[in-house]
Amino acid sequence: MRKKLVAGNWKMNQNSIGISEFASKLLTKLQNSQPNSDILICPPFVYLPQLTALFEGSSVQIGAQNVSNNSKGAFTGEVSAAMLTDIGLRWCIVGHSERRKFNHETDEELIQKMELLFAEKINPIFCCGETLPDRNAEKHFEIVQQQIESTLCAMTTNIVETITIAYEPVWAIGTGVTASKEQAQEMHAFIRDLIGKQFGDSIAQNTHILYGGSVTAENAQELFSMPDIDGGLVGGASLKADSFFQIINNCK
Ligand code: 13P
Repeated sequence: MRKKLVAGNWKMNQNSIGISEFASKLLTKLQNSQPNSDILICPPFVYLPQLTALFEGSSVQIGAQNVSNNSKGAFTGEVSAAMLTDIGLRWCIVGHSERRKFNHETDEELIQKMELLFAEKINPIFCCGETLPDRNAEKHFEIVQQQIESTLCAMTTNIVETITIAYEPVWAIGTGVTASKEQAQEMHAFIRDLIGKQFGDSIAQNTHILYGGSVTAENAQELFSMPDIDGGLVGGASLKADSFFQIINNCK
C-alpha cells in the first residue's frame, strides 16, 4: 500500500513573518491529529533553513523547488544538489511546468538534475502534464508519454525507484479548474502502466504519482480516493495552514 504524500509547492510566495505564523498554526493542528499522509513543504530557497528549523522533530519534511543541473562551480545564482544535502533536505521538485516554460528546461537538463539528486540521496518529484491546447486536441496521453519516455525511461532503474511523479495538467495550475477525478485517475493509471512496461510491475506499483492543479480542501478527498492518485502537489492552497491541514486530513 502506498502511503499518501501531500506536498506544498509555495513557488515564489511567503515571507519570514508569514512562515512563522504558518508553522505555529500547522504544528498546533498536527499535534491534535494523526495524519495518514506524509507531509512536505517546498518553499523558496532562502526560507529553507527557517522552515527546517521550525519543523524540526515534527512529521513535516522540507524540500527544494529546484536544483542546478551542474554539480558545482561558476554558475551564478544556482544551488547544487550537494548543497541541498548539506542542509539536510531529502526532496526536490524537478521539471515543474513553470520552469519548463519560463526557464526553458530541457529533458537533458532534467535527467542531469535527477542524476545529481540521486547521487545525494534526494528524492526528485518529477512533474509532467499537458497544456490546454494539447488536451483540446486530445493529445494529452501522447504528450505525457513523450515527457516520461524522454526522461524517466532514459534513466536507470535504481534512480527511477527513488522518483515520485507529479501529474500536473498545465490548464489546471492556478486556474481553479481542477481535473475531474476520472480525468486524473485515467492519466495516473496510464503513467503507472508506462512505468510498468519499462521498469516492471513492482516498481510501477511502488511509484507514487501525485496530482497537482487547483487542489483545494474541498476537492482533495475525491481526488485522493482514486486508486492511482497517491496524494497531491499543492500550490495556492498550501500557503495557508488551514487549507493545507484540511488537505492533509483528507487522506484516508
Ligand atoms: P495550484 O495548486 O495553485 O494550482 O498549483 C499547482 C502546482 O503547480 C503545484 O506544483
